[in-house]
Amino acid sequence: MGGEILKVNFFLPTKVVAGNGCVRENASLLARYGKRALIMTGRKSAKKCGAGRDVEEALSSQGVEFRLFDEVENNPGIANCRAAALAAREFGADFIVGIGGGSPLDAAKAAAVLARNDLEDSELFKGSYPGGALPVAAVPTTAGTGSEMTQYAILTNESIESKSSISWEGIFPVLAFLDSAYTAGLPHRIAVNTALDALSHSLEGYLAVRSDSWSRALAYEALLIFGKELPRLADGYYGEELRAQLLLAANMSGAVIAQTATTIVHAMGYSLTYFKDIDHGRANGLLLGPYLSLSEETNPEGAREVLDALSCRNVDSFERLLESLLGDRETITPDEIRRFTTIALKTKHVGNTARSLARADVESLYARSLRLL
Ligand SMILES: [Fe+2]
Repeated sequence: MGGEILKVNFFLPTKVVAGNGCVRENASLLARYGKRALIMTGRKSAKKCGAGRDVEEALSSQGVEFRLFDEVENNPGIANCRAAALAAREFGADFIVGIGGGSPLDAAKAAAVLARNDLEDSELFKGSYPGGALPVAAVPTTAGTGSEMTQYAILTNESIESKSSISWEGIFPVLAFLDSAYTAGLPHRIAVNTALDALSHSLEGYLAVRSDSWSRALAYEALLIFGKELPRLADGYYGEELRAQLLLAANMSGAVIAQTATTIVHAMGYSLTYFKDIDHGRANGLLLGPYLSLSEETNPEGAREVLDALSCRNVDSFERLLESLLGDRETITPDEIRRFTTIALKTKHVGNTARSLARADVESLYARSLRLL
């Protein structure tokens, strides 16, 4: 990246605390945001991993009343977030605590906006929210999305058959609690898929047009962790130290995309999730090898740095690492490639991808990432 003039545009207002028991040990931080909290979770995982209980105890210890909204859907849509916002309004919530993977955390941020603003669906993604937003505290229970560190809420948007993002600095969570005890019970498949999402955040962010020295420093550090821990995860190891490291790397990778946004990998992955029901992290993981290979053509230095951080000798060895995590790949038809490419090329992610992308580039990325039928 030599020869670049000084370029920094960095903002990160989230207070992060980490460690086993950090929610209860830092309960007083929550009390700063008011007397009534809406807790938002999916149906099961927050209860199973113990995070829900810890948050409830922390709030109670501070005399904060709470109500539970435990109906956040996977890949939540607008209506689901509206229901949560209504619950927040009816309860008179001063703030929201989101617990879970990307879906509950993103839904919490969207509900925080909707609780304070009367918006039509068409206005929700426009970035103007005069009423502000309720403060959000985030408790991730997967090491993937990094949503606890971003100003994005990514929702399923039926009207465009894809995902749309709220992107607004007012929804950076005020607090993030990282406790790797919560990821202990994750099935291997989910641990892998969420790790692949986080990996794609740091890898895409490192090479993004919008990257700067701050974001690359964070991304590089996260990639070092992935280089060390992903081979062990692929081997089936899932000890406490690995989980803590992956949670930290996912958190840093979230901070990266808060600064850089994501690139064509995420834009292409959204169609794999929307139309083929492939998990978000896995969808990105499928695309990463061919994407790094393409990036190498125009930014060999950046690609080299990514490979060095990951302790991979070349793109082939990176592909082998991914293979050990992904196993058999899904299929894709020529017609799907054409349709998904049309959708991906309409996104703003294209302009954030360091290499200028022709239609043929995107089609070829799909064809090389899945098994072509
Ligand atoms: Fe992602």
